[in-house]
Amino acid sequence: MSSVDAVRAAVAAVSDPELRRPIGELDMVREITVEGAKAQVGIVLTIVGCPAAARIESDVRQAAASVPGIAEVDVEVGVMTPAERKALTEKLRDGRPARQMPFGPDSLTRVILVSSGKGGVGKSTVTANLAVALAEQGLAVGLVDADVHGFSIPGLLGIPAGTQPTRIDDLMLPPVAHGVKTISIGMFLRDGESVVAWRGPMLHRTVQQFLTDVFFGDLDILLIDMPPGTGDIAISVGQLLPHAEVLVVTTPQAAASDVAIRSGLVARQTGQRVIGVVENMAAFTLPDGTVVDLFGSGGGAAVAEALSESAAVPLLASIPLSPALRAGGDAGVPVVTGDRSDAAASAIRDLARTLAEQGRGLAGRSLPMTLR
Ligand SMILES: Nc1ncnc2c1ncn2[C@@H]1O[C@H](COP(=O)(O)OP(=O)(O)O)[C@@H](O)[C@H]1O
Ligand SMILES: [Mg+2]
Repeated sequence: MSSVDAVRAAVAAVSDPELRRPIGELDMVREITVEGAKAQVGIVLTIVGCPAAARIESDVRQAAASVPGIAEVDVEVGVMTPAERKALTEKLRDGRPARQMPFGPDSLTRVILVSSGKGGVGKSTVTANLAVALAEQGLAVGLVDADVHGFSIPGLLGIPAGTQPTRIDDLMLPPVAHGVKTISIGMFLRDGESVVAWRGPMLHRTVQQFLTDVFFGDLDILLIDMPPGTGDIAISVGQLLPHAEVLVVTTPQAAASDVAIRSGLVARQTGQRVIGVVENMAAFTLPDGTVVDLFGSGGGAAVAEALSESAAVPLLASIPLSPALRAGGDAGVPVVTGDRSDAAASAIRDLARTLAEQGRGLAGRSLPMTLR
């Protein structure tokens, strides 16, 4: 291999940190010349001021310098022409027309909605930690914060205020936090802006745009943090994703489980499948062995049983009350990444493993009679 070819191969393998593909594949490598021990490398970025520019440039420099015989590297950074950018966005869409939802019934991505009857049961906390745990187990995970009025996912994942998706023409690249590609209305609101007055159509359009205009790439699992209850957004998501799977989160308290059952039944009316119940804020054990069941017990099992009329709905996890889980949420450092000993973190990691092992599509679906 000539030294130009060797430098080209090394540079082409550098990964774009946002698009998560080699820059060679993304047609970002331009002219390369080598004179003696000095390499001159031309690359182009998608847009001016691309946030990943510094990282790509230094990775390219390092890759070229790693080629034997190269001692000095000059990187020249340019910007794609509109035509080149259009070709790139078309390539990324992989033949799918713009503005088409990639998570239809034929998609290989499992879409899992996390729902609850009422707010404050820990749905978002569980969703954020579950997403991170799934990513840690090697899955490609996306997270849509569909709780437009009460968004909390950016804070839970420690995404700094002011972080916005990068735009390449009409494609939006979701910020990645703890390995999870994440989108939330919180990334679009400027100082003083608020969504409190948004009604049905605006909410519908927002969720629809999250699902169609955000470029998630190939995902194994897309988690959707739903708002509590069965309002406008739940209905919109039901229309957009009728084949989605649903996890119902409840506390152990009987009063919470009654509304949780209702949210599971409504999801089912749109055709979605309830794949399991997650009980959160369950009893925890003090160091002296005392069991504290602040919110009572049995709610998770009661919801699972009530939803099991047509097909068995298992209680998939019981997550104890945990100061570490709460503190991790407040700090933006999900407890599943840090505290290996925390009981809530292990329960969420186990839940992630259970979901990952299920694979796509069969869980909760009634099998044909002949296979039973
Ligand atoms: N297992 C738990 N142990 C202790 N605190 C929890 C637990 N789950 C959630 N919390 C706390 O309860 C509050 C509500 O959680 P959140 O995830 O925002 O609920 P939801 O999304 O259902 O409204 C947050 O302050 C969170 O830190
Ligand atoms: Mg929430």
